[in-house]
Amino acid sequence: MNEFDLKIEDFGDDFHWGVSTAAYQIEGAYDIHDKQASIWDAFTSRKGKIYNGDHGRVATDFYHKYKEDIDLMKQMNIKNYRFSLSWSRLIPEGTGKKSSHGVTFYNKVINYCLECGITPWVTLYHWDLPQKLEDKGGWTNRNIIHWFEEYAKFCALQFGDRVKNWMVLNEPMVFTGAGYFLGVHAPGKKGMRHFIPAIHHATLCQAIGGRILRRRVKNGYIGTTFSCSYVEPFSTNKRDVIAANKADALLNRLFIEPSLGLGYPVKTIPALRRINSFIKPGDEKDVIFDFDFIGVQVYTREIVKHSWWTPYLKAKISKATDRNVKTTVMDWEVYPPSISNMINQFNEYKAVKNIIITENGAAFEDKVVRGEIQDYDRLSYLQSHLQKVLEAKQQGSKVKGYFVWTFTDNFEWAEGYYPRFGLVHVDFKTQKRSLKLSGKWLTSFLESKSV
Ligand code: BGC
Repeated sequence: MNEFDLKIEDFGDDFHWGVSTAAYQIEGAYDIHDKQASIWDAFTSRKGKIYNGDHGRVATDFYHKYKEDIDLMKQMNIKNYRFSLSWSRLIPEGTGKKSSHGVTFYNKVINYCLECGITPWVTLYHWDLPQKLEDKGGWTNRNIIHWFEEYAKFCALQFGDRVKNWMVLNEPMVFTGAGYFLGVHAPGKKGMRHFIPAIHHATLCQAIGGRILRRRVKNGYIGTTFSCSYVEPFSTNKRDVIAANKADALLNRLFIEPSLGLGYPVKTIPALRRINSFIKPGDEKDVIFDFDFIGVQVYTREIVKHSWWTPYLKAKISKATDRNVKTTVMDWEVYPPSISNMINQFNEYKAVKNIIITENGAAFEDKVVRGEIQDYDRLSYLQSHLQKVLEAKQQGSKVKGYFVWTFTDNFEWAEGYYPRFGLVHVDFKTQKRSLKLSGKWLTSFLESKSV
């Protein structure tokens, strides 16, 4: 089965292998007990926002099927499970009254993981802000700092005795960019006036959350995650090179650099200067936090060219579908060197202690042949990316783990259920889980792994 010329031993005994998921994409049970709406519950009920009118009200019903799913992880030799907490399940209105039902649910998930020998890795925030907080401006309102503090403290207190590995935010660039600038993700806001304050408040919360977890979780291993794509200029033309530098600053540097004390990349992107009006005395220091690890999440690369017509950046992405390259069903280029290039790029920051690939994976059309899901494209995607991770490790980078996105097929945000990223196929009508070929391969690859 393991035909690929890659040995798990080459990554070392202490390399963390796992799978990643996010609450809204799998849990369902959107209004059970006292749970209130998150911005994704609200956004998916708006017409025309999500492909096919899909939503996460049931999703993969992880809320009820968590045992079955964790059992399957165990059978697949998966020893680390990254999932996120739903804020509005734990504190339905975002602030104030807490939900004992929410706490019970996550206690059950955490305890069952531990019983099965699976280490939980928990993300505090994977995009599902309580709608009640969005009604007050969400990430654009500086009060988010207090709301987030309350939420982080509560989670640390409830789960920190058993959960040691934490991530504060999932991909702040995506939830601010897609949610508050482009309006294609929840809460569907558009423009710089939303985007700029959201960036600064998310950057503050990233560090505040880190400090809270460090103080309150004994022996915690505290990180946060970043979306990133290796950026290359379309040509050697000076304008394209400048455009690519700007795109790189936006996609790959915007959220990590302030946390390292380097400030926002305003020199490269002058339009970001307006963030200064949201920076209060003391903020420059408060955005800094020395994370134990950073979570790097890579799917593709971007080729960028100059464009007079794009406001602020004067840069635009050259679509993979116009470039005659192999793509996934998301129309993202399959380009394995992007992952090693990004590991190396983040490795250059002296203050970064450890790098973990907290997401990498791909959506392809899964063909069922004689009852078997033969997802050779996904298999080769994962194997070729792992090969590159290994190369980066062997060249001396601080990469310490790899989590596949994702465990089961699930709700892929604005794209609904069409793109399937799972190692495990889900029949959304019956909720039946079936291992894909890629899942079978991972099972045998991880066989010798004990931690
Ligand atoms: C996100 C996931 C998402 C995946 C594939 C990442 O940006 O963290 O929630 O499903 O990419 O698009």
